[in-house]
Amino acid sequence: MFDKDKKIIFSGIQPSGDFTIANYFGAIRNWVLLQNDYNSIFCVVDLHAITVPQEPAVLRRRSIECAAMILASGIDPEKSLLFFQSSVSAHSELCWLLNCNSYMGEMARMTQYKEKSVKQGDTIRVGLFDYPVLMAADILLYNTDIVPVGDDQTQHVELARNIAERFNHNYSPTFVVPEGYYGKAGSRIMSLANPEKKMSKSDENTNAFILMKDKRDVIMNKFKRAVTDSETEVYYDKEKKKGISNLLEIYSCAKGITIPEAEAECRGMSYAEFKECVGTAVADCLDPIQVRFEALMNDKPALEKILMDSADAARSIANKTLRKVQKKIGFYQFGSK
Ligand code: TYM
Repeated sequence: MFDKDKKIIFSGIQPSGDFTIANYFGAIRNWVLLQNDYNSIFCVVDLHAITVPQEPAVLRRRSIECAAMILASGIDPEKSLLFFQSSVSAHSELCWLLNCNSYMGEMARMTQYKEKSVKQGDTIRVGLFDYPVLMAADILLYNTDIVPVGDDQTQHVELARNIAERFNHNYSPTFVVPEGYYGKAGSRIMSLANPEKKMSKSDENTNAFILMKDKRDVIMNKFKRAVTDSETEVYYDKEKKKGISNLLEIYSCAKGITIPEAEAECRGMSYAEFKECVGTAVADCLDPIQVRFEALMNDKPALEKILMDSADAARSIANKTLRKVQKKIGFYQFGSK
């Protein structure tokens, strides 16, 4: 399936909530475009999801729904691998080996951890602290060249690069040093309820995000309530007009046009008209994805086959890397002289 002359992309997404349009515009949409030019590996990272408490039945349902949503968005199983992280045990194993080559200091600097630990205090899990090393393992197992993600993952991709470079230096060249890839627009979609905060699938306020599963009337309502400003004019200014600029960015992503084009289309509209326009564009963009999602969920055996076949293929790549790393570290090699 993979072409030796093509570079490799890897990316992952957590089944810690239903996907939002930020996941779609910031990541999945880019995966769909890139899969034509790269050997592409995508992973529903369920091991990452358990760094915070999860209800087992909900995690199980969400995981399969997340996989269906990625396929419904246009990931083609003929071109790309798509599997559950927990199906390939090399992810956990390499994580341990990399843990022993990572520093507490560099981990403690991760902003996502710092933000979350403020909220969770003493009951924060060790896994949440260690999460970026697991992410490094995900990436490094597949000789990944490019990691297409949203802006919020920059620091984690940087850590994966540092870990790879350190390992290569301490032992001998082993890992490809990956690079992050960020889309031109949509790499940081903000909350509709508070445009100072990024849109997140785990936000407690359901008006803060649009889910890829949301129906048209829900979408229209959420945009109607979106926080803007006390002016009346629609134009793009990320500092002064965070809410409106975010809506313009969402509109440009949904329509597949640039931000200046979106601005030109919407200039002169009242805020109410503009919000309705953004809502319609997003609902139109999600409509066909939702139809495909339903069809995929109605054929579970076919869906499971895609995930299992992909996991088999992923396992064989990942295990090769794992064996190489084990050998370099000095684990006993049976049968060697
Ligand atoms: P996760 O599950 O939080 O998000 C999945 C993808 O969506 C992007 N994203 C956003 N993009 C734009 N605006 C936003 N508000 C927004 N919120 C989320 C994320 O940047 C991401 O690309 N640690 C990762 C999952 C992961 C991973 C990996 C990614 C695990 N292993 C290996 C790449 C490579 C995460 O929590 O993503």
